[in-house]
Amino acid sequence: MTVERLSTGVPTLDKMLAGGIPRGFSVAVTGEPGTGKTILCIHFIAQGIVDGDKCIYVTTEESRESIITQASQFGFDFSSAIKNGKLILIDALMGTEDQWTIKTLSVEELVNKVIDAKKALGYGRARLVIDSLSAFWLDKPAMARRHSYFVKKVLAKWDFTILATSQYAITTSEAFGWGVEHIADGIIRFRRFVRNGVLRRYVLVEKMRQTPHNLQMHEIAIEHGKGLVILGPVEERREDIALPKKVMERIQKAMERRDVEPPKSSN
Ligand SMILES: Nc1ncnc2c1ncn2[C@@H]1O[C@H](COP(=O)(O)OP(=O)(O)O)[C@@H](O)[C@H]1O
Ligand SMILES: [Mg+2]
Repeated sequence: MTVERLSTGVPTLDKMLAGGIPRGFSVAVTGEPGTGKTILCIHFIAQGIVDGDKCIYVTTEESRESIITQASQFGFDFSSAIKNGKLILIDALMGTEDQWTIKTLSVEELVNKVIDAKKALGYGRARLVIDSLSAFWLDKPAMARRHSYFVKKVLAKWDFTILATSQYAITTSEAFGWGVEHIADGIIRFRRFVRNGVLRRYVLVEKMRQTPHNLQMHEIAIEHGKGLVILGPVEERREDIALPKKVMERIQKAMERRDVEPPKSSN
């Protein structure tokens, strides 16, 4: 059986994914701040508009206006798509209240709002971006797995292919932001390094079920007027671009703590 795939909107990334993301998948897009997660989400939605998919973008980290402005810098007209009923941009906490805002960062409210949006857009293949999903459990990281599972389970019935970003940060005492990966059918990981005083960004397809995907880390660029561009595979040894061992141990510990779930929902 052939797998129906949705283009990510980034041609080289599609090639790395044997054509794109399988329909119905939930894909975690992870990485440090400023690495390109939101930019990829914007491409994914812009492609959805071209392909005639019903598009929903939930933003928790930036305002609706910020996403529209960012998209316009790469030649994507999100304002028209909203006016033409192809895109609904759900704003969580950032903007002035209207029909498409979420007032609290609760996964129940998120899921209900997304379903309302899908009903408003109509029947058919749909794309959903949740940028970021990890924002919904910032104050209760132990709930990451349960929450992300809930979101996936409920939304699976609505013909969504989902990109959910997970912003992680490593502080001296904690590593947080992990969790979305637990339930993901795919993981696209962004990384960044400063080399010779210059910020370089990379992307790696870490997991994609049902897909003979590329395993190489690729360097990327974010270009004005264009957006995310894949420059090519990196030749560095893996050790060069892996997180330091100490940090990995901290992450491991944080993940283990997370696996011990609290006795009842803290919602
Ligand atoms: N118009 C632009 N031209 C060039 N680079 C841009 C442009 N807009 C954003 N960027 C780059 O993209 C970065 C933000 O990427 P983003 O996807 O928002 O990161 P995150 O992973 O935190 O979501 C900015 O810090 C900047 O380096
Ligand atoms: Mg972002």
